[in-house]
Amino acid sequence: MALADYIYTKPRIETERLVLRPMTVSDVPDLREWMPDKAIYKYWGKGAGRTEKNPELMFEKDEKPTKSFHLGVAIKDSDKVIGDIWVYLIENDRMASVALRLGGAYHSLGYGTEALGAMTRFCFENTELQRLQTQVNTDNAASCRVLEKCGYTREGLVRQGKMVNTWCDYYIYGILASDMP
Ligand SMILES: CC(C)(COP(=O)(O)OP(=O)(O)OC[C@H]1O[C@@H](n2cnc3c(N)ncnc32)[C@H](O)[C@@H]1OP(=O)(O)O)[C@@H](O)C(=O)NCCC(=O)NCCS
Repeated sequence: MALADYIYTKPRIETERLVLRPMTVSDVPDLREWMPDKAIYKYWGKGAGRTEKNPELMFEKDEKPTKSFHLGVAIKDSDKVIGDIWVYLIENDRMASVALRLGGAYHSLGYGTEALGAMTRFCFENTELQRLQTQVNTDNAASCRVLEKCGYTREGLVRQGKMVNTWCDYYIYGILASDMP
């Protein structure tokens, strides 16, 4: 299957402690607990936007075409959604970008590494994707560490480039299908 097909036929991806799965309006109470927290967006040069402050808006857009493969990150035991992960800017089913955010209460417990590792493996094992990449503010040490633990290579540094809503120094991290063990 091409990665773009999974945007509409979303899979469940299970790890030891997590399930990456489609979200529904019943997840809104979980999302409200962390999505509006401005600390999450510190390195993106923005606060919580209208949708982050009102997560129910995410589910009003369902009928509109989207170009992003977006899943919630849920704790397997409780099914509580503690974050989300998305693969976007999909180019010719061959290259795409990946981004991840987790509620602050769940940081530094290994969940970010587990979620990103699972999404990376899923893309390379089930689609024609050859390359995943991301931009990371050079000050975002936790994100750099997670990428490195998942096998991404720091490929370069962009000085004072535009990253999300901010102008900053940022790294490009990338991983190829052929890098996977
Ligand atoms: C980036 C993010 C997803 C990481 O998730 P996480 O669950 O905390 O990550 P993990 O627990 O798997 O790993 C974090 C690693 O960073 C390290 N770390 C955390 N804060 C750190 C800091 N300030 N300086 C250096 N290392 C740090 C942890 O020690 C851990 O490394 P270790 O396993 O070698 O000890 C999470 O911090 C987040 O959602 N941040 C806000 C959104 C964001 O910046 N997303 C990334 C940009 S796409």
